[in-house]
Amino acid sequence: MASAPDTKSQESESLSEAPGFENEVSNVISPVNLLLIAIIGFLLYKIYCKFTKSSSDTVLVELPKLRKDMTVAELRHYDGNQPDGRVLVAVNGWIFDVTRGRRFYGPGGPYAAFGGKDASRGLATFSVTSSDKEYDDLSDLNSMEMESVKEWEAQFREKYELVGRLLKPGEEPTNYSDEETEDTDSPASTPADKKRD
Ligand code: HEM
Repeated sequence: MASAPDTKSQESESLSEAPGFENEVSNVISPVNLLLIAIIGFLLYKIYCKFTKSSSDTVLVELPKLRKDMTVAELRHYDGNQPDGRVLVAVNGWIFDVTRGRRFYGPGGPYAAFGGKDASRGLATFSVTSSDKEYDDLSDLNSMEMESVKEWEAQFREKYELVGRLLKPGEEPTNYSDEETEDTDSPASTPADKKRD
């Protein structure tokens, strides 16, 4: 006899729990939690990509050093789509071999628009686009943008091999054939002397 009211109260409890449970469910799938789940998922995906990509990067054979001035048209060939996969990028009139940064500038990379291109304007204006101009003299950039281009140039000099100058239309390429040194910025050094012994 005594159990009857108990069962009723249990029933009514579970009934009154139902909306509470719903509340909890809606709390769990609140927009904030969904956003957090999405961010965690994205970060895990990035970590996964980093591991898988770095292993494929190491498969790349080191390419012979390239030392050459180029026109914008010549530079275009080096977007990473040719068999050797070499990628070059020009910044502030200098061409850099960014093949070791292929995952950034190579096909499918986040900065692929810079591969085989003059990236100066894009870097200056913080936009991943490259101009289709035959030669971009950057003369319309303001002083802050020019400062930014110079900082990027310094960063590229530190990280990547210098290939040569980006030639203006009609400009003659430098002949680098005598230059055997690794130190491309100081032609005054004498590697031939070292080799003589
Ligand atoms: C929300 C937007 C962006 C995020 C979250 C982002 C993130 C990053 C990160 C994490 C790196 C370093 C990667 C590494 O060293 O492993 C990087 C490098 C870089 N980013 Fe961005 N970036 C953004 C936008 C841009 C834009 C708009 C530009 C174009 C001007 C840009 C140009 C570069 C360049 C040139 C590098 C250097 C790659 C190298 O080391 O050669 N980024 N970015």
